[in-house]
Amino acid sequence: MVKVETSEPGLYGLGCATFRQRAHAVVAAIDKYLNDFCVGRDIDNIEDVWQATYQSSYWRNGPVLNNALSGLDQALWDIKGKRANMPVYQLLGGKCRFGVDCYAHASGTSPQEVADNVSQFIEKGFRHVRIQMGGYGATQLLGGYGYSGEAPEPNFKKAGYGMPDDNYMDSLVYTKSVIDIFDKTRQQCGEQVELLHDIHERIQPLEAINLIKALEQYRPFFIEDPFSPENNRYFKLLREHTTVPIAMGELFNSPQEWVDPIKDQLFDFIRIHISQAGGITPAMKVARMAEIFNVRPAWHGPGDVSPVGHAANAHIDFAVWNFGIQESVSFTETLQTIFPKLSIC
Ligand code: CO
Repeated sequence: MVKVETSEPGLYGLGCATFRQRAHAVVAAIDKYLNDFCVGRDIDNIEDVWQATYQSSYWRNGPVLNNALSGLDQALWDIKGKRANMPVYQLLGGKCRFGVDCYAHASGTSPQEVADNVSQFIEKGFRHVRIQMGGYGATQLLGGYGYSGEAPEPNFKKAGYGMPDDNYMDSLVYTKSVIDIFDKTRQQCGEQVELLHDIHERIQPLEAINLIKALEQYRPFFIEDPFSPENNRYFKLLREHTTVPIAMGELFNSPQEWVDPIKDQLFDFIRIHISQAGGITPAMKVARMAEIFNVRPAWHGPGDVSPVGHAANAHIDFAVWNFGIQESVSFTETLQTIFPKLSIC
C-alpha cells in the first residue's frame, strides 16, 4: 500500500502496490527512487506524473517498478476523487451498471466436495463460481508459486495429483479430475450457474488444449491461464480447435504482452493484475482497447490483491462498458481490522 500526502493538510491518497511475492523490492523502489522523484509534483496531472515516473527508470515494465507506480497512480486517483467529492468511477466516465458481478472460489479435495461448495455459493446468491480441486498454486515444475523460502506442501497432493516424496504434479490425474469436477457440479447444480476453472499454467500446452476441448460439453464460462505468458503463441492453435471462452493475463506486465493477443482476439477475458500493469491509468487504456476487440476485463482479484486494489478493480468495472466479471475474495479478519469498512461475503 502506498500513501501519497499532499501540501493540503489531511488530503492524502492510498494506492495498491501489492506484489506480495517480492514486497521488499517494491518498498525499496518507492523509498529509494519514487519518493524523491515525486516530491513537489502537481497531484492534479495524473497522466503526466504517470508517464514521467514510468520513463524515469529508462528500463521499465517489470513487476517491481510497475507495482510502485501503481501505488502512486491509484493514490492520485483517490486524491482526485476526494477533491472532486466524487467516487473514482465517476471520474472514469460514470456507471455502466448498478453493481459488479463477482465470482466465488469453490474448492475441495473431491468432486463431491467441490459440487457441495458450489451449491453453498449458489445459495448465497453467486451466479458465477470457479471450481478448483487441489489448490491452484502449483506448476508442473515447482511445488508452489511466489514463495521466497521453501514452498509449503502443494495442495495438489491432497487431491491425489502427485507422489508423496516430490513436488511434481501428475498432469494426467489432474486433467481427468477437472473433467470429473465439471461433470459432478453440472449434475448436482444444473445449468443455472456459470462455471469457471483456472489451469494456472500447470500443464503442457497441448494437454491444456485437449482438456479444454473435453470441457466443451460442460459449457464453461471461461477457462483461465491455459498457457504461461512464455507460451502465448499456442493461443492460435487453441482457437483453431475449440470455442470455449478463454481468460488470460494475470502475469502480464507490459503492453508488449497484451496488445497483439487482444487485437488478434486470441482470448475473451483480460485478467491483468492491475498493480502489475502500473495502476488505474494503464488499466483504463487496456479496457478501452479491449472494448474495440470485444475482449472483456476480468481483473485478477484473489487474496494477493490488497483491499485498495479490489476497490480500484471495482471502480473500473463500474465505468467500462465491456466489463466481463470480477474475481472476488472474502477478506480475512486481520484485513478487516486494518480496513474496518470491509464486508465479508
Ligand atoms: Co489465474
